[in-house]
Amino acid sequence: MLGNFSYHNPTKLYFGEDSLSYLKDELKNYGNNVLLVYGGGSIKKSGLYDEITAVLKECGKNVAEVSGVMPNPTAEKLREGVKTARENGSEFILAVGGGSVCDYSKAVSVSVHCDDDPWDKYYIRFEEPSCEIVPVGCILTMAGTGSEMNGGAVITNHEQHLKIGHVFGDDVMPKFSILNPRYTMTLPKYQMTAGIYDIMNHICEQYFSGEDDNTSDYISEGLMRGLIHASRIAVKDPQDYEARSNIMWTATWALNTLVSRGKSTDWMVHMLGQSVGAYTDATHGMTLAAVSLPYYRYIMPYGVKKFARFATEVWGISAEGKTDEQLAEAGLAAMESWMKELGLVMKISDLGVTDEMIEGIADGTIILDGGYKVLDRDEVVSVLKASM
Ligand code: NZQ
Ligand code: ZN
Repeated sequence: MLGNFSYHNPTKLYFGEDSLSYLKDELKNYGNNVLLVYGGGSIKKSGLYDEITAVLKECGKNVAEVSGVMPNPTAEKLREGVKTARENGSEFILAVGGGSVCDYSKAVSVSVHCDDDPWDKYYIRFEEPSCEIVPVGCILTMAGTGSEMNGGAVITNHEQHLKIGHVFGDDVMPKFSILNPRYTMTLPKYQMTAGIYDIMNHICEQYFSGEDDNTSDYISEGLMRGLIHASRIAVKDPQDYEARSNIMWTATWALNTLVSRGKSTDWMVHMLGQSVGAYTDATHGMTLAAVSLPYYRYIMPYGVKKFARFATEVWGISAEGKTDEQLAEAGLAAMESWMKELGLVMKISDLGVTDEMIEGIADGTIILDGGYKVLDRDEVVSVLKASM
């Protein structure tokens, strides 16, 4: 751990089948006007909506609602939520759903008391909030993004063909999150596996960088091994509570700022995937799956030792008789076959990308410099073409 850093995570977690029972106590800490935010209706179908509204009623809260938060929430929907929160004097936001609902609630929280347009302020000018922030609590129904314990809030602007994430600070992170693995069991398999790959890629984004001996990398390897093991069980039996609970807990630790301590981080798979998402509105985890292997095969020569370590420590491949290059390729081949086993989308053309979109997707790809190789625009285009 050669660098200097601080570590603090303010989100309180309640995990397990009984975790909703803590909601009542938590609600006592916040104002009476609650904004209940949820997605397209899965929580009504599962019965969770009724359970939560009963608790809110029991606590005497005045509840306003924003429903229909879509996967990859939009700037337009964000403005609508801000308006509803203002009209109802919302003092607390309760997000019930996946990463989209949690991200969206954070974006609303920093915009209610701010006069500027939130898209321009936070996503184009990348400013930090200078206004009062409405506290957010999450009840998570999908494992993947880590939004339940981080400051990330990704918003899509379809007119501008941009999908951009702003990682806000401690004061925007959820005050508490309720994680009941049972809630994730109603997810369609496509969403479950997209979430699993999102988790894997969050760890990879933070693992594939640097050359020092770093505790964060050892934690990452353990998380990846556990995730791969649990995913193989869950994909055969999605109702396996033990596997689903391990996946949910891994998702939280994969992106709650822990495994990035003391490291530079890459995040180029996410930059490519987000730009693909801006053009196609495809499921986040699938956009990552479809660009990952061409990207990693391209940068692997620049960080071959780490890719070789990935092969031995994560995939259990023997180093005997192999060069670092051979090991590195074997590790990526193992990841590829695992991805196919999960049934992930392996090509961006299968997500609706056409040849005509490639240049625009490259324009919308933010190029970061924390990984093993800083891509130029031509290299972005060639990775995208190799992902078709
Ligand atoms: O809207 P409903 O009806 O709830 O349906 C959702 C949605 O259609 C459904 N779903 C969620 N829980 C369910 C369920 N269906 C049945 N049973 C349940 N228990 O699943 C669909 C996808 O949900 P969504 O919230 O969009 O998925 P996810 O959790 O993957 O979130 C994706 C968003 O998070 C952003 C992504 O870019 C994307 O906008 N990310 C946020 C990050 C962060 N905060 O740090 C980092 C990530 O890299 C990611 O970029
Ligand atoms: Zn992600």
